[in-house]
Amino acid sequence: MVQKLKVGTLISGGGTNLQAIIDACDQGRIDAQIVFTGSDVGGVKGLERAKKAGINTFVVDYARIIANCRQIRDLDSLLPKDFDPEEILGKQRLVDVEKNHEKALFFIKSRVIAERQLLDHIESYDMDLLVLAGFMRVLTPYFIDRINTSALGHRIMNIHPALLPAFPGTDGYGDTFRYGCKIGGCTVHFIDYGEDTGPIIGQKAFEIADEDTLEDVKEKGLQKEWELYPACIQKFAQSRKVISI
Ligand code: GAR
Repeated sequence: MVQKLKVGTLISGGGTNLQAIIDACDQGRIDAQIVFTGSDVGGVKGLERAKKAGINTFVVDYARIIANCRQIRDLDSLLPKDFDPEEILGKQRLVDVEKNHEKALFFIKSRVIAERQLLDHIESYDMDLLVLAGFMRVLTPYFIDRINTSALGHRIMNIHPALLPAFPGTDGYGDTFRYGCKIGGCTVHFIDYGEDTGPIIGQKAFEIADEDTLEDVKEKGLQKEWELYPACIQKFAQSRKVISI
C-alpha cells in the first residue's frame, strides 16, 4: 500500500490554493492528505474552507504578537530558550543587519516568538511536507531549521505570484503588471533563508494582453497556481514515495 504524503498547510487569506489542494487530494489526483491548516490571521475564508473539509485548524495571531513585542520591556523573556540571536542573524537573508542592527534584531526576535507558537502547533502533527498556500509571513532560520530536520532536506514549499527570480516580495502580480510585462507567471519553490530565493520546483506562465487590467492578471495567475501547486506536491510525493508492506 502506498502511504499518502502528510501535508501541513499555512495560509493568510482566501485560501483558493488551499482549496485546489484539498480538491486534488479528495479526487485522488495527488497522493497526499492535509493534516492541518494554520493561519497568521483569524477569521479568514481559508480557515472556513479547511473546516468544511474536516481539516484541523489553528491561528497564531502575528499582528497581536508583534504589537505585544513592541509594548513589552523585556522582549528576551518571551524568546524560546534555544534561540541563538547570533546564529539566526548570521544565517538569515531577510533583513539588512548592517543597516540597522536594532531594527533587524527586533524583526527577527518578534518573528521567532510567533514562529515558536507555530511550531508548538505543528509539532503535534505527523507531517512530511509544509505547504505555504498564500502565507504572507517570512520564516526565519529558527523555524526553517526545526522543520527541515530530515536527512531528505527541504520540507517547506511556497507559491509565489511571479516568475522568480523576477519580482520577489509581497506583490508579484502587481509588480509584473506595473513593469509592463507581456508574460506573467507563478512559481513553486522550496523555502530557504532568503525571501523567495529557494530552489524552484515548478513554474507556469501566461500571456498578458495590452488591454488586461491588474485584476485580469491576478485571475489568469491564480488559474495557473491552482494547476501548478497540486502538481508540485505530487512531484514531491513521487520522489518520497514510502511503500509499506
Ligand atoms: C496567491 O496569489 C499566492 O501566490 C500569493 O498569495 C495569493 C494567495 O491566494 N502568495 C504570496 O504572495 C506569498 N508571498 P489564496 O489565498 O487565494 O490561495
